[in-house]
Amino acid sequence: MSYTNIIEQNQAWIDETWQKLDDKLSRVAVKSRYKIPYTTKNGEHNDCSKGKGILTWTNGFWGGLMWQMYVGTGKECYKLTAEQVEKTLDNAFSYMDSWHHDVGFMWHITSGVNYRLTGNVASKNRNLISAMSLMSRYNVDGEFIRCWNGTWHGEDVSGWSIIDCMMNIPILYWASKEIGDTRFTKVAMRHADMSMRDHVRADGSVNHIVMHDTNKPNTVLGVRAGQGYSETSCWSRGASWALYGFTLSYIHTKEDRYLQTAKKVAEYFIKETEKTAWLPRLDFRQPEEPLYYDSTAGAIASCGLIELAKNVENETEKEKYLSVALHILKAMEKNWCNWSENEDSILQMGSLMYEKEQHMPIIYGDYFFAEAILKLKGTDFLAW
Ligand code: GLY
Repeated sequence: MSYTNIIEQNQAWIDETWQKLDDKLSRVAVKSRYKIPYTTKNGEHNDCSKGKGILTWTNGFWGGLMWQMYVGTGKECYKLTAEQVEKTLDNAFSYMDSWHHDVGFMWHITSGVNYRLTGNVASKNRNLISAMSLMSRYNVDGEFIRCWNGTWHGEDVSGWSIIDCMMNIPILYWASKEIGDTRFTKVAMRHADMSMRDHVRADGSVNHIVMHDTNKPNTVLGVRAGQGYSETSCWSRGASWALYGFTLSYIHTKEDRYLQTAKKVAEYFIKETEKTAWLPRLDFRQPEEPLYYDSTAGAIASCGLIELAKNVENETEKEKYLSVALHILKAMEKNWCNWSENEDSILQMGSLMYEKEQHMPIIYGDYFFAEAILKLKGTDFLAW
């Protein structure tokens, strides 16, 4: 069946789900206009906009979600909230004591999208500054973008890269195009090549953290479990960052090696998620008990699979990737979405990591769920 036929066959569900998103979010957009939520407590969005909370790496997703809804509906309530969030997020520039690699998550889908939709020059500059800060984290000897600052469980992290960064480098591709300077793209590709070699394993599973020699390229000193179960397991959100991230690197560069890598990770993700009725576990190699899930991995992977379906030539692959995205989204909608007016979040059962904070609503679950449904509705707009 062709891409168009599959969409047509699922049109009623897509339209109905989009309507539910709009019904709920048009109300919550007004209610949470002056907050930057991460999760909910007793049904109410919490607020990460105060003090150092403004530095939370997830602080772009609420504004980003508002822009997705604006693109899909044209409704002013979403634009007003997105603009307010961007204004609130400016406080991060005052509190930022050390910059990190997550600037793409914070600004590319808020200011970056605002600029691309409206031409707002202040938004363009916010995004450019963020891109420059990400560039500055590139280790020219080790050939990777470092992740965090300071220490993690007592270990110095200056030589560490993480798979999540594949979703932050699209801001570099954008900066290159925007100012006509190829250096940003070259750095993004060096990082993507490292990640393809060192993070993605031969079977399509993924290392979360890789430790490098900071003085030489192509040296892996070790790996760490990070947010997954163990050093040899596969954290499902890490796999979904890789799936969507390599797909995006292919879209921006047209380098086939990134497409092949995205497909390799996709095959692994699909094989593992099918085992649990299309509801992704937190880690694909975790013990059978406790059975932890992570809805955010499903939402991110669905976005990646839909983009993969659009970008592969082969009709069988197109059909597979699109159908699996629909299986995952439908399974999550049926089992994990809360459409009630008494709860500000939508997608439940997100998990931060194997060690803590499982099975809760997390803002980027809602963001990627809405992005996926908007893609299925047929928008050409790509936030990343
Ligand atoms: N980027 C951190 C996470 O996925 O939890």
